[in-house]
Amino acid sequence: ASTLGAAAAEKGRYFGAAVAANHLGESAYVSTLNTEFNSVTPENEMKWDATEPTRGTFTFGSADQVVNHAQGRGMKVRGHTLVWHSQLPSWVAGLGTADLRSAMNNHITQVMQHYKGKIHSWDVVNEAFQDGSSGARRSSPFQDKLGNGFIEEAFRTARATDPAAKLCYNDYNTDGVNAKSNAVYNLVRDFKSRGVPIDCVGFQSHFNSASPVPSDYQANLQRFADLGVDVQITELDIEGSGTAQANSYTNVVRACLAVSRCTGITVWGVTDKYSWRASGTPLLFDGNYAKKPAYTATLTAL
Ligand code: XIL
Repeated sequence: ASTLGAAAAEKGRYFGAAVAANHLGESAYVSTLNTEFNSVTPENEMKWDATEPTRGTFTFGSADQVVNHAQGRGMKVRGHTLVWHSQLPSWVAGLGTADLRSAMNNHITQVMQHYKGKIHSWDVVNEAFQDGSSGARRSSPFQDKLGNGFIEEAFRTARATDPAAKLCYNDYNTDGVNAKSNAVYNLVRDFKSRGVPIDCVGFQSHFNSASPVPSDYQANLQRFADLGVDVQITELDIEGSGTAQANSYTNVVRACLAVSRCTGITVWGVTDKYSWRASGTPLLFDGNYAKKPAYTATLTAL
């Protein structure tokens, strides 16, 4: 196949990109997106600050733009994200425990209802664990006020709202075997043993020279898959350039393809032109939408 999406589809996977609604008027952006990718993740448009900036007032305009673009072209949509400490409007942090619980459940319900039937996988909870060796939960309004049970409650509410959507836990620095991924692993194992709904784990996979593709990446994906969940590479970007960057992309694609429950890969942007990363060149297309060595390596590996 001659495009990322078609090549991934031949392997039973999707190949997606994070998409920003405000670039959908740029023709080179749109043509690259439409040609190469068969899944999209709204980069910011489904986050809490975008969808419920004021309590009880839901605004879906920009997220709808991304979803409509994708649906009109037969692309899948990943939902990102329902419960996260970041890009959280300040009114949420100001609530007391009982209000926070009902606000969290209402947010999940309203957003998932709006997109019911249109989302293949939802990042229900994002980044709930700390970095480092503790394996502890990260401080957030949800963790601090609702306690450890907030993740289970969020997943139960999500399942009740849209039973057809795959429900994922998503995080970064969990790509190899380490204390943080062990903590997520224990959470998933506990959920599966108690029948708490969870279908997938997202591995963000933001890599750079300080945090390269781990040598045990595939083994880590496989141990999660062996718990009975799908795994997805959800926000892939790799800082660098040239052959080194291309080889790292090859390693990521090979790892996913080697794990039968690795159902798809999403890169965190279409073009280096709009990458969120400081170094600015972690993606597959350069700032002029030319294919980089990383693109060719990815297509070849698929
Ligand atoms: C990033 C977006 O790419 C930026 O545009 C925004 O300013 C900050 O968030 N982990 C996640 C993503 O789950 O939502 C983040 O996206 C990158 C890190």
